[in-house]
Amino acid sequence: QFMIAEPFRIKMVERIKKTTKEERQQWLKQARYNAFQIKAENVYIDCITDSGTSAMSSEQWSALMLGDESYAGSKSFYKLEASVQDIFGMPFVQPTHQGRAADYIMAKLYAKEGKYAIGNMHFDTFRGNAEVLGALAVDYVVDNGKDTASPPHPFKGNIDLGKMQSLIDEKGAENISVVIITVTCNNNGGQPVSMQNIREVSNLAKRHNIPVVIDAARLAENAYFIQQREEGYKHKSIKEITREMFSYCETATMSSKKDGLVNIGGLFVSRNEEVFIMAQQLAIVHEGFITYGGLSGRDLEALAVGLQEGVDEQYLEYRINQVKYLGDLLKEKGVPIIEPTGGHGVYVDGRRFFPHIPQKEFPSQRLVVALYEEAGVRAVELGACAFGSKDKETGEDIYPDIEAMRIAISRRVYTNSHINVIANALGEIYKNRDQYKGMKLVYEGPITSLRHFTAGFELY
Ligand code: F0G
Repeated sequence: QFMIAEPFRIKMVERIKKTTKEERQQWLKQARYNAFQIKAENVYIDCITDSGTSAMSSEQWSALMLGDESYAGSKSFYKLEASVQDIFGMPFVQPTHQGRAADYIMAKLYAKEGKYAIGNMHFDTFRGNAEVLGALAVDYVVDNGKDTASPPHPFKGNIDLGKMQSLIDEKGAENISVVIITVTCNNNGGQPVSMQNIREVSNLAKRHNIPVVIDAARLAENAYFIQQREEGYKHKSIKEITREMFSYCETATMSSKKDGLVNIGGLFVSRNEEVFIMAQQLAIVHEGFITYGGLSGRDLEALAVGLQEGVDEQYLEYRINQVKYLGDLLKEKGVPIIEPTGGHGVYVDGRRFFPHIPQKEFPSQRLVVALYEEAGVRAVELGACAFGSKDKETGEDIYPDIEAMRIAISRRVYTNSHINVIANALGEIYKNRDQYKGMKLVYEGPITSLRHFTAGFELY
């Protein structure tokens, strides 16, 4: 399989521990078969998330030393502001301590009680904040984006314009308070949204005076896919593409822990001054003064540099192709995945992997357990446990369309040899797939949508 070598060399290493299968079985039992409950030091290759796990560059580490820790008017803030304006093409920048804090501000300003918030697939943190405020969050991703077995399509993160139009016709535009486009779409495979779709969604919304916002956690990866896959963008730079993406929206939030290539931070960015004035007020109450937003000056410095490194084309080519390399190795071994591979990880289809395990017995969670047990590799379930819900009247379980195990790949952290380890382990499990049985959920916390973090399981 084809892979692109790393466009960096390694100056400092972090040692990781190889463990035995017997040890891992013990730790799994102690964790009640929940990957979130395993100690990180007992994980060999950690693919539970790509968030906050990036390796910083020597330029970022040296920028840390320049951090201006002034409470108000920090020099570091103005560097960050300029870097953000350069990539987003929007004037108003408020840092926050991480993405969900920006989501909270976004929800406060754009979600309205009893009104709809249309998304391709809402990420948990905006959805949670919007629902607490009484908004009705609906996922209108295109149909092939909901089907983990659908044939490859370049933009499975797109919003279904037909569904959006129907909701406008049925409920009236005044009952839709916002459209939020998440790039890339995390919940169904890190699948990108095309420029054409962003433009068309924006035009439709504009005709009805509905504001459009973007959840931009993985903006650079989305821009790279547009450059590679969409007609007319081959010769555009990543920055030209990101600026065009944001030209169609009023406001964007970002978890800087992804494409910002830092370990903590978030952003609220807008072109609407009235909205921004309110956002600053909320930031002061919840985050910190407007020029630091809950981050230290050195964090602002690292992010100012990281954002620019995140849109570098050599980096993105390597990044996207490392994920694809894992996908290609898995496909070669027959392992069923969401195709094409997305930006930040490979999503293995739990139902097709373990066709004999019904969704109520958590096939993807079973696969997470098997992968850790066999190889010390930690992935995350995005299926019946994480996305499951309960009928409000009957309390009966509702199962999600997506049933997958996400292998999230941290940025600039693991080598292609680590990728081989992951692929070989999954290939072995796949060969023996008939021997695995399902799991039983024996503990869940009071809030169903958060249950995957603390759930306890038993093996059948
Ligand atoms: N939006 C998207 C699309 C995300 O993927 C995340 C986080 C957030 C917002 C929230 O940002 O963590 O900085 O508060 N996603 C992580 C993940 C946790 O594993 O996918 P945050």
